[in-house]
Amino acid sequence: MTDPSVVSELQLQRQVKWLKESWTWLLRTKVLALETRGRRLEALDVGCGPGLVMEELGPLFNVQGLDRDKGMVEKCHNKGLTAFHGEAEGMPFEDGSFDVVYCSFLLLWVKEPKLVVKEMIRVSRQWVVCLAEPDIGGRIDHPSSLIGLKDLLIEGMLRQGADPMVGRKLTELFRSADLDPEVGAHPGGWKVGSPEDSEQEWRNLLQMIGLGREDKRVTDLEQAWKQATTNGTLFQYNPVFYAIARK
Ligand SMILES: C[S@@+](CC[C@H](N)C(=O)[O-])C[C@H]1O[C@@H](n2cnc3c(N)ncnc32)[C@H](O)[C@@H]1O
Repeated sequence: MTDPSVVSELQLQRQVKWLKESWTWLLRTKVLALETRGRRLEALDVGCGPGLVMEELGPLFNVQGLDRDKGMVEKCHNKGLTAFHGEAEGMPFEDGSFDVVYCSFLLLWVKEPKLVVKEMIRVSRQWVVCLAEPDIGGRIDHPSSLIGLKDLLIEGMLRQGADPMVGRKLTELFRSADLDPEVGAHPGGWKVGSPEDSEQEWRNLLQMIGLGREDKRVTDLEQAWKQATTNGTLFQYNPVFYAIARK
């Protein structure tokens, strides 16, 4: 069975393109601006996937990755990145091995997010950062013919074992491990630009819904989506949150 947390690389690329400016700002202003060590910081990317975030953060840190999917680890190696095979719930690293331990689009997929955050804190010397976790419950779609989309996405993610509301839980998750994080939402909406972009976004939404076109709700929504794209009225907003804390 395929692991639903192993999201297509194209979708990960789109996420990175949308969010990289915001998380780079976050790390520069909240982490690097306070650092006085005068050396490059060592960072760990937990649930690194094919290493797209690692590549973007290469200019800021010496980054290594960890993923439970061997194919992802291999993709990182093929790009010349350092990555290890392992579980976020029990990482193969000593206490305090890295200056910065971060994840992105990971906690929504894990069964025990409290344990993962605790483990991230354990292997960090100082900074623990969730760069991006979505909250589908806070989603807004327009026009009104698309209003049922949010509920179908929530149901689909629950069926696939993901937590569609993890974004709002970041404070609770960090507090459960005795850290008080700064939590915020990344700015901007996910603007669907060209027809190809709209098609790709719909394919991604369909994958999250996990139902076929034999379901009338899906075909109705697909029609509404296409119409809204064609007449230029489409708007979607899906909040994506970050959390950052210092040990
Ligand atoms: C949605 S992808 C995100 C990849 C990358 N962080 C990004 O933002 O581009 C989630 C990744 O987390 C990995 N993953 C899921 N659960 C994990 C766990 N318990 N331990 C380690 N890796 C995990 C998956 O194999 C997948 O590569």
